[in-house]
Formats: sequence, C-alpha cells, structure tokens
Amino acid sequence: MPLSPSAPADAAPALTCRGLRRTFDGTVAVDGVDLTVPAGSLTALLGPSGCGKTTVLRMIAGLLTPDRGQIDIHGRRVSAGGHVVPPEERGVGMVFQDYALFPHLTVAKNVGYGLPRRPRAARRARIAEVLDLVGLGHLGHRLPTQLSGGQQQRVALARALAPNPAVILLDEPFSNLDASLRTTVREDVRRILKAANATAVFVTHDQEEALSLADQVAVMDSGRVHQIADPQTLYTTPATRFVAEFVGEAEVLPATRAGSYLVDTPLGRLPTLQAVTSEHASVVIRPEALRLRADAGGRATVEGISYFGHDQMVEVSFDDGMELRARRGARLDLERGQRVRVDVEGPVIAFTEDDAASVPLGDRRVVSTLAASA
Ligand SMILES: Nc1ncnc2c1ncn2[C@@H]1O[C@H](COP(=O)(O)OP(=O)(O)O)[C@@H](O)[C@H]1O
Ligand SMILES: [Mg+2]
Repeated sequence: MPLSPSAPADAAPALTCRGLRRTFDGTVAVDGVDLTVPAGSLTALLGPSGCGKTTVLRMIAGLLTPDRGQIDIHGRRVSAGGHVVPPEERGVGMVFQDYALFPHLTVAKNVGYGLPRRPRAARRARIAEVLDLVGLGHLGHRLPTQLSGGQQQRVALARALAPNPAVILLDEPFSNLDASLRTTVREDVRRILKAANATAVFVTHDQEEALSLADQVAVMDSGRVHQIADPQTLYTTPATRFVAEFVGEAEVLPATRAGSYLVDTPLGRLPTLQAVTSEHASVVIRPEALRLRADAGGRATVEGISYFGHDQMVEVSFDDGMELRARRGARLDLERGQRVRVDVEGPVIAFTEDDAASVPLGDRRVVSTLAASA
C-alpha cells in the first residue's frame, strides 16, 4: 500500500530480505541473501554478471518465488515458505533495463498505466505531478519514440513512482544509455528519487555507478552478499578480498606478521588498519596509496603511463617481476624506463590468507554470515 511520503528516518526498514535462496535446475543462483533497505534510501546491488542480482530483484518484486527465505516490504511479510503475495499487491515499482514503455501510448498514458482506479481529475493531477517531478511536465502528449533515451528513462521512472510504491526496483537502469549521457542521467535519477523520498534498490555491475549513486551498496558474488556498507566504507575497509578487488582497483600482496598492526610485504614493513592475528596475511594496496619518486637507486622501473588528464596511472615493475600500478596527479614528471622508488602511504588493509572466504582480520561478522549460508 502507498507509503507516506515523509517516513521518519528511524522508521522500520522499507524492505527486509532474510536468507533468500533460489536455484534453477539444481544450480544455486542466490544463496542466503540478507538485505535491509532503510526507508528513503538508495541501495545498489553490485556484482559481476551472473552473480544473482536480477534474481534477487525479481524475488523482491514477486516475479520469482524463493526456494527459501522471507521478504518483508514496509513491515508486511510478502514472501515466506509457501505464502507469496502477488506482485501487484506488494507496493513495488519496477524500472526495466529497456524501460518497457508502451510505444503506442503517450507519455501521460504510460505514466497513468500503473495507477489504480481513481477519479479522472485525481489521476490527471497525479500524472502531472510525477511528470513535473521528472522534468517532463511539458511532454505528456508525446509518444515515447519522440523522446531521447534519457527522457524515456524518466518516463519509466515516473510510471514506477506514480502509484507511490513502498520500494522502486531498477535493473541496470543506465546500461542502455551512451557513456556521455550516463553521468548526468544518473544524477537526475538520484535527485528525482530523493525528491520523491522514494526507497529504491538498483542493480548494476558498474562499481563507479554504485559508489556514486547509492547510499549503501551490497556487493554480491556467486549468489552471496559479501558486504553491505556505504560507499566510503566499502572502498576504505572492504570486508573480503573479492570486495577489495571488485570495488576500485587493488593490488593484493602477500604479507607476514611483524607486530599487532604491522606486516612485512614485498614493499617493506607496513602498518595495517586491522590487528594481524595470523602469521600469514594478504594486504590490499590502492593505486593512489603508492608514491613514486624518480631515483636511480630505486628498485622499480616505469613500464607504462596511461594519461587521463585529471590523473594518470603509472605501471611499474620490480626487478623480481612484481608489477604494480600507481595513480598520480596530472603532472607528467616520470617517463618510461625511468628507475623509481616506491613508497606506500598510510595503513593498508590486511586479510588472513588461509581464510577461503578471504575475510578481513577485523570483521568476524562477515565470517559468520558466509559460514551460516555455506
Ligand atoms: N530463469 C532462469 N533459468 C535458469 N537459470 C537462470 C534463470 N535466471 C537466472 N538464471 C541463472 O542464475 C544465475 C544468476 O542470474 P542473474 O540473477 O540474472 O544474474 P545477474 O543479474 O547478476 O547477472 C545465472 O547463472 C543465470 O544463468
Ligand atoms: Mg541481471
């Protein structure tokens, strides 16, 4: 049922999934997914192709029945065991990858399509209201084919928002747009969802999209959620090695314990963010944490420079064959073939090496989640 547009910040979550599991012909697609989506927030489901993102979304929408687990939408159980509430009674709006607009209906009729029966004047008013919200108030009479890709997407969003659903679900909403359009459309969509105080879950395989758009990101791989956190936490303290390598660029190096918060690595002795409890570990180093200085006595050689204007990525190789990438500012002050000294700035993220799930030393919560669903 429609949610009050001004739910308080401490309101019950708009959406909760517990232990969601789904197999297809014996193959596990989604394997024990827990997800809590606060009302009014924007959550990204991020992961590589085939990791189960769309399957999760379709179970939330009621288009697929979970084998196990439960789903609550706005405090109401919509899926558990054999009990399944049909999609149209869940208070969920969908925006599909291809927008799925009716080509023969005007923009206004497309938007009105999902509205429940109500007096004509009230319908018209609601259509006008959401079209204004998405900045298309003047284009209600057009056909979808007379709109740009970005505008069509806003129509799809308006149609999903019109019935004031408890949750809006968007599956790869930006993948059909040109790269040049994507950034501005993303910003538009975020602004519109926030203005509507909507709760939304969107699926993406694009980490930049997830980080730049979402309030919280759930990183998935092979049907499981590795970590749910705000973008900054995800980037600075990834819970697993998979998250570290999938979200942003990361060099993973072997390490041995040299103290409670100290490891020895091929780059020397480094401080760690987490306490090191085992003899062997791995450390994650972001390219922007590497400092390069021209030094004839340095241990590495510049192999390549990719210049992007606002910054550059410099590849270096060490005499023992190890290769690393360093992100640097706009100034081109190194050249290929030059010898450099490599230093690491700030503490590094450490993982226990023997842990199959590559769970970080500091986060036992995730171990239990992964173990529980194993
Ligand atoms: N209807 C289906 N029938 C059989 N296998 C499916 C079906 N839907 C999804 N799968 C499989 O489940 C896994 C997860 O798919 P999906 O949720 O679409 O991943 P994603 O959206 O992350 O790319 C994949 O291995 C996919 O092939
Ligand atoms: Mg998908």
